[in-house]
Amino acid sequence: FLLMMLLSPLFISCDQTTLKQSLDPSPFPSNFLFGTSTSSYQVEGAYVSEGKGLSNWDVFTHTPGNIDDGSSGDVAVDHYHRYLEDIDLMESLGVNSYRFSISWARILPKGRFGDVNSEGINHYNKLIDALLLKGIQPFVTLTQFDSPQEIEDKYGAWLSPESQEDFGYFADICFKSFGDRVKYWFTINEPNMQVTLSYRLGCHPPAHCSQPFGNCSQGNSEEEPFIAAHNLILSHATAVDIYRTKYQKDQGGSIGIILNTLWFEPISSSTADKLAAERAQSFYMNWFLDPIIYGKYPAEMMNIVGSTLPKFSSRDKEKLKQGLDFIGINHYTSTYVQDCIFSACKPGPGASKTEGFCLQNSQKHGVPLGEPTTLFWLNVYPQGMWKIIKYIKERYKNTPMFITENGYGEICMPNSSTEDLLNDVKRVEYMASYLDALITAVRDGADVRGYFVWSLLDSFEWTYGYTARFGLHHVDFATLKRTPKLSATWYKHFIAKHKLIK
Ligand code: NOJ
Repeated sequence: FLLMMLLSPLFISCDQTTLKQSLDPSPFPSNFLFGTSTSSYQVEGAYVSEGKGLSNWDVFTHTPGNIDDGSSGDVAVDHYHRYLEDIDLMESLGVNSYRFSISWARILPKGRFGDVNSEGINHYNKLIDALLLKGIQPFVTLTQFDSPQEIEDKYGAWLSPESQEDFGYFADICFKSFGDRVKYWFTINEPNMQVTLSYRLGCHPPAHCSQPFGNCSQGNSEEEPFIAAHNLILSHATAVDIYRTKYQKDQGGSIGIILNTLWFEPISSSTADKLAAERAQSFYMNWFLDPIIYGKYPAEMMNIVGSTLPKFSSRDKEKLKQGLDFIGINHYTSTYVQDCIFSACKPGPGASKTEGFCLQNSQKHGVPLGEPTTLFWLNVYPQGMWKIIKYIKERYKNTPMFITENGYGEICMPNSSTEDLLNDVKRVEYMASYLDALITAVRDGADVRGYFVWSLLDSFEWTYGYTARFGLHHVDFATLKRTPKLSATWYKHFIAKHKLIK
């Protein structure tokens, strides 16, 4: 009897959970947002149409050798002209939201040193209005890797504190022009990837690398990623400050930032490896979220690179207090981490000896963490989805979250048949398993408010050019014809099953 008494709370809570689940088949709240994502440079094309200025990506792709297939986003998938057709695709999926980014150089061809391009403003007005007409909420990312070349040429973009002013100026114009209708803003997409790819590995513009890597041999200072990160963090804070003081009260929207997230799985249960995984997270995601949410860099970073990290002035700290309203999570994959302070370790891709951890993607006794794919960085490990959400929930006190990107990419050979590409069973399996993991996180009380698939369409995948495809819709890059893949039909049914309200 005593044992039964002790166990009874367990029985009661189990019964209640079962009962709740059978009454409420959808774990998602009725106002949950399901959507798809794209970004300006990857889909728009029209790279010099209607007053647009050159962006850093226009210049970078026009330099031979930078993109695997020698391509560019000059035309991309012509979303600039075909947005109505693309909104029809969204409508047919049944999504109630669409995340896209604004081409900064389309709005401000010369940054804050020139005029506002009214044709650029008109374009996004038309896009936003057409979305709302179909009951699709616009989720706007202010910048996703592309920025006016002018600010690179004038002062080195994110390497200069001037970038904070430029970004604030741009953000202000966007809030003023679109904020009556846009209620969800993200300042910057994946600043953590941006500093790594642009200022450490040199494979994105301005192609600075601290050590020779791939095509990059410039040998730039190792401090650059930390300086760029500092300016990106403060650019976020500048934009949020402007939004809060000038617009938020009247417009009633909210604002956040988007980080790329990896789940770092310790390679063993040793304390050293567990601490290494924690350090890896600090040098990856917490690097940005800690200053924005807690006003300072993570302790693990201060211990290791404290003397290199730029300092926040008291004015910066004031601005940082504006924080954010939600965290955007781009999540695709996970990796093993091994300590390399106390043990020797063989660096895997992206490993950093100085930071005291090594990333060992598929190195645990030859057994990979999750199923490998044709993309070297993408292993299918759905457990990583709920683990990272749980981590963020705990570290950042259950700040509201959106999964702003999740999706499956594949490298396509020139001879891949369209039929094979349309029958994307692997993408369906990936999405089903990651959405299942998301459901576990939501049932566990994580405040996740929406999920966006990357991507609505096959598009320009940065240095991969058009050789990697992530779309729910196949795009024939010669004719630009869109065709739904199996995954589009699957997502449509998934959404319908969860009976979303608009
Ligand atoms: C994250 C980036 O935000 C997006 O631009 C990119 O295409 C996807 N990851 C896939 O690599």
